[in-house]
Amino acid sequence: MIIREIEFIGSFEHENQCPKSDLPEYAFIGRSNVGKSSLINSITNRKELARISSTPGKTQTLNYFLVNQEWYLVDLPGYGYAKISKSKRKKWKQMIERYLLFRPNLYCVFSLIDSRLDLQKIDIDFLNWLGDSKVPFVIAYTKIDKVKKTLRDAQIKKIQNQLLEYWESLPQQFITSAETNAGGDEILSFIEEINNK
Ligand code: GTP
Ligand code: MG
Repeated sequence: MIIREIEFIGSFEHENQCPKSDLPEYAFIGRSNVGKSSLINSITNRKELARISSTPGKTQTLNYFLVNQEWYLVDLPGYGYAKISKSKRKKWKQMIERYLLFRPNLYCVFSLIDSRLDLQKIDIDFLNWLGDSKVPFVIAYTKIDKVKKTLRDAQIKKIQNQLLEYWESLPQQFITSAETNAGGDEILSFIEEINNK
């Protein structure tokens, strides 16, 4: 897919404020700091579209980008960010869950997992919640550039085996790096395929 144009539509705090639209929508979610905003910039080849930060908790709202006037990309806040107040954490959780459960044109969620780490409990809890809630999702492993080349296959296999302790089969998976743009074309082709279905 060629991205001809991309437009920032707005930041919203509640699912019912999001654009009223039938256009296909794809959301990026994962632990705080896993690289959601960076991956959005990488696949769209725009360096400063979504705001990134080395400090977790950068993205705090539902951020909408309209691509080619045809589909939406949504950058979500991360889960599991410890350094915010309990009340704010609860508010974020509700915001994200409401969005994922009630957004009618949400075609697929990209659930991001840090390829450098063992599977975290919070990740598996979140994936289980997606599954139980029947939210369609795929997996993107992030920051693969940070894993030594010779260890990459084994590291991904290890995470897959950890996932398979909870799931009988795994959804489609993408191995990505916002640094090298790895996986970006595959993600765009996947989105294009679903859009055209
Ligand atoms: P929140 O919005 O705070 O939840 O974080 P996020 O998931 O959007 O992460 P963000 O894209 O802001 O990236 C967090 C940090 O990881 C930044 O310092 C990025 O530069 C870095 N980072 C993200 N993706 C990659 C990657 O693929 N490779 C490397 N080397 N660094 C990355
Ligand atoms: Mg972010």
